[in-house]
Amino acid sequence: SHRPLIDSFGRRISYLRISVTDRCDFRCVYCMAEDMTFLPKKDVLSFEEVEAIAGAFIARGTTKIRLTGGEPLVRRDIMALVRSLGQKIGSGLDELTVTTNGSQLAKHAAGLYEAGVRRINVSLDTLDAERFRQITRRGWIEDVLDGISAAQAAGIAIKINMVAMRGVNDDEIEPMLAWAHGKSMGLTLIEGMPLGEVGIDRVDTYLPLRELHERLARRYTFTKLDKRTGGPARYVHVAETGGTLGFITPMSHNFCESCNRVRLTATGQLYLCLGQDDQVNLRDAWREGGAAALDAALDHAMIIKPKGHDFVLDRTHEAPAVARHMSVTGG
Ligand code: GTP
Ligand code: 5AD
Ligand code: SF4
Repeated sequence: SHRPLIDSFGRRISYLRISVTDRCDFRCVYCMAEDMTFLPKKDVLSFEEVEAIAGAFIARGTTKIRLTGGEPLVRRDIMALVRSLGQKIGSGLDELTVTTNGSQLAKHAAGLYEAGVRRINVSLDTLDAERFRQITRRGWIEDVLDGISAAQAAGIAIKINMVAMRGVNDDEIEPMLAWAHGKSMGLTLIEGMPLGEVGIDRVDTYLPLRELHERLARRYTFTKLDKRTGGPARYVHVAETGGTLGFITPMSHNFCESCNRVRLTATGQLYLCLGQDDQVNLRDAWREGGAAALDAALDHAMIIKPKGHDFVLDRTHEAPAVARHMSVTGG
C-alpha cells in the first residue's frame, strides 16, 4: 500500500529516526546516569529486520532517515546497514543521515560518504578537553575532533549539536559559534529535556534558548532563515561569521504542531513522541505477520501518535517527564 502516513492531527510523517543501539561509549551527564541498564542484546533487531521496517516506511512516504543511538557507530558492523540503507537513496529516500558523538567517526567517515551520507550531526558541548571529559564522563575530545576533520575531508557537511546548560557550558556559546562557523560547520543549540534520571540537576542547568538568543543578538546580526531540514530547529544566518545557527527549543517553544517524525528503537518499538510513552511493537508485527502486519501497525501508529510532549522543568516536577533515557530513542 502506498498511502502516506498521516496522523490524527493531520501531520504527515516523513522522517524516521532509527536508534541502532541504545549503548554508548560516553555517559553524557544530561543524557545518561553513571550506571545504565541497556536493552537486552537478544532483543535487538537484525539489520534485515531494520531494512524491512525502513522499507515499509519508505513505501509510505518516508523521505528522510537518521541513524541514532546511543551511539550508532558503536553498533557492530554498522557500515553494512548504512550501505544497504544508502542504496535506497533516490528511490523514495532523499536523505540518509547520522547523529553521532564522533568518537568512532574518523574510521567511518569515508565509508559514510561512499554510502551516500552527505550531512551528519555531531554532538559537541564544549571545546575544552577537561570539561569534555567531565560532561561525557568517558570520552576524549581529540577523538571527536579527529572524526570531524575526517568527515569534512571526506566531503560530509557537519552540524554541531550543543546542549546549552547554565553553569556548565553557557560561557562557551560564542567560542563554539566562532569555531564551528570558522570551520564551515553549522551550530545548533538545544535545550535540555527531562528524559530519564541523569547526572545533572535539570532545573539548575536549564537555559532557555530565548535568553541565549537575546544575549547573542546583542553581539551578532541575525537574519531569520526559512530553511528547514525536516528537524525541529529554527535557523538564523549570522552576518559576522557567515554561518548558520539553529535553536531547538522544546521547553520554551513547543514545535510539536509541525512534528513529522517517529522513532524506532534498537529492539523494534516505534515511539510516536519523544516526550510520551505511546508505542507500537513493529518487531512483533514483522515477525508474526510480515509486510501486511507491518503496514497495519503503521496505520495504528498514526491513530495513536500523541499531540505532543508535556515536558515541564521546575521543582514541583522532580521526576523526569519520561522515565526512559534519551539514548533509548536516540533523541
Ligand atoms: P536535522 O536533520 O539536522 O534537522 O536534525 P534533527 O534536529 O532532526 O536531529 P538531531 O539528531 O541532531 O537532534 C537534535 C536534537 O533535537 C536532539 O536533542 C533531539 O532530541 C531533538 N529533537 C529531534 N526531534 C525532536 C522532536 O520531535 N521533539 C523534541 N522534543 N526534540 C526533538
Ligand atoms: N536533552 C536534550 N538533548 C539531549 N541529547 C541527549 N540527551 C539530551 C537531553 N536530555 C542530545 C545529544 C545529541 C542529540 C541526539 O540529543 O547531545 O546531540
Ligand atoms: Fe552517548 Fe549521545 Fe547520550 Fe552522550 S548524548 S551519552 S554521546 S547517547
